[in-house]
Amino acid sequence: MVSRRFVLKAAVVGAAGLALPLYRAGELSAKPAIEKFVRPLPIPEQLEGEIDNGRRVFDLSLQRGRHEFFPALATPSAGINGDYLGPVLRTRRGDKLRINVTNTMSEASTLHWHGVHLPAIMDGGPHQVIRPGQTWSPEFDIRQPASTQWYHAHMYHRTAVQVYFGLAGLFYIDDDAADRLHLPSEYGVDDIPLVLQDRSFNSDGSFSYMSSMRDRMTGMKGDVMLVNGAPFPVHQVASKLMRLRILNGSNARIYNLEFSDGRTMQQIATDGGLLARPVALRQLRLAPGERAEIVVEFSPDDNVVLRHKPLPNRRAVSRGMMGMMMGADDQPFEIMQFRATTPVAAKSALPSHLVKVRNWASRDAAKTRKMVLDMRMGPAMMFGNGFTINGKAMDIKRIDERIRLGDVEIWEIRNDSPMPHPFHIHDIQFRILDRNGQRPPANEMGLKDTVLVDAGETVRIITQFENYSDPDNPYMFHCHILEHEDAGMMGQFVVI
Ligand code: C2O
Ligand code: CU
Ligand code: CU
Repeated sequence: MVSRRFVLKAAVVGAAGLALPLYRAGELSAKPAIEKFVRPLPIPEQLEGEIDNGRRVFDLSLQRGRHEFFPALATPSAGINGDYLGPVLRTRRGDKLRINVTNTMSEASTLHWHGVHLPAIMDGGPHQVIRPGQTWSPEFDIRQPASTQWYHAHMYHRTAVQVYFGLAGLFYIDDDAADRLHLPSEYGVDDIPLVLQDRSFNSDGSFSYMSSMRDRMTGMKGDVMLVNGAPFPVHQVASKLMRLRILNGSNARIYNLEFSDGRTMQQIATDGGLLARPVALRQLRLAPGERAEIVVEFSPDDNVVLRHKPLPNRRAVSRGMMGMMMGADDQPFEIMQFRATTPVAAKSALPSHLVKVRNWASRDAAKTRKMVLDMRMGPAMMFGNGFTINGKAMDIKRIDERIRLGDVEIWEIRNDSPMPHPFHIHDIQFRILDRNGQRPPANEMGLKDTVLVDAGETVRIITQFENYSDPDNPYMFHCHILEHEDAGMMGQFVVI
């Protein structure tokens, strides 16, 4: 994949703030040897919590650890209730939750419920800091449809490195409407999570992070693909109809997924829940922060690789020096293998209709808000205002947008920079109205909380800010390339 030949030492590490000697940057010696498709795909533990006084209670602990990504090499890492990544939290629409999050690490962190509709003070963004030794216990209700959400660290200026080390996990929401469809839903059997992350390692097994100027500009990419924390794993398929819940949990890499034999996948869900009907695809583009649920059919003796194919849309690779960097990064590579010996038949076929997806009419919008994403290289970047929204780099003391409770709004997101940015809004799910004035593809016509905006593109979304208002505690909107978020491509809104 990517060779790390041009390395600018030390100078580029600055913003990460070396509170802990977590990693070493820029080592050029040989990497640990990797054999592909040998390690079995790990299935994360699934937690249903304990019911206490009508509340579903989870206990989570943020911890440092050492994880064996490679045989006999321990990588200093971080995780939730474990040494890399965290459990799948299983919740249900109507649940009242309490989540006790204890920080056992020696640096401050936060835990954000990405995609979940909740009060700002429970959101786990950069204002809800959990200091070392402290426990934070947010309480909130689940009032949104069945979906695959996730959680991750969101510490101001430290999100990227903390997530890179492993502070992330999945958060499932179930509901009656989804149950009635009899989709594949036996966890770990015909319903499995795939958390995709690319990582870079040094020869001693330690993570390599932010070793080059490019890492800082385009975000941190690696040449080792982890799925649920295992490098290039293999999964033995048990059932003919498999539901794969895919999270792009990478810091910066955009995937264009396909199977090596070109087989079709049926996308059944976007970030915010099920689509109106399955959408047949041969390729699926997924940007950092986005989720997609797909259903794939397997036959006896199948042996197929899930891989990345460079993005077909090449505005991104043609614009200037950044475009060249992006292009060099975007090589084809393999991710994991699926093997089916004698898969068992599915209990029921995939329904042709799924759910009614919530939507809003443009005429009901109280206003249109404009968001312009930009990045500048050179001195502006070094001085911390190179990554901006509407010309401003994130300031945690500044509220950027004030939104009236209950309002339907259109946000027009324009990307004036030379590379794509996945734009994410906290608290709400939205629908994509158009991309450069064109209707979005069918598999994007569902609820979303993150949308990829290509270089030069304008995307309009529509949503409603409801139920929770708080003049003092903001939610975030930002680029989900985590290095961009940390470098300033983030803003704050309050609902009042
Ligand atoms: Cu995935 Cu602001 O978060
Ligand atoms: Cu979020
Ligand atoms: Cu970005």
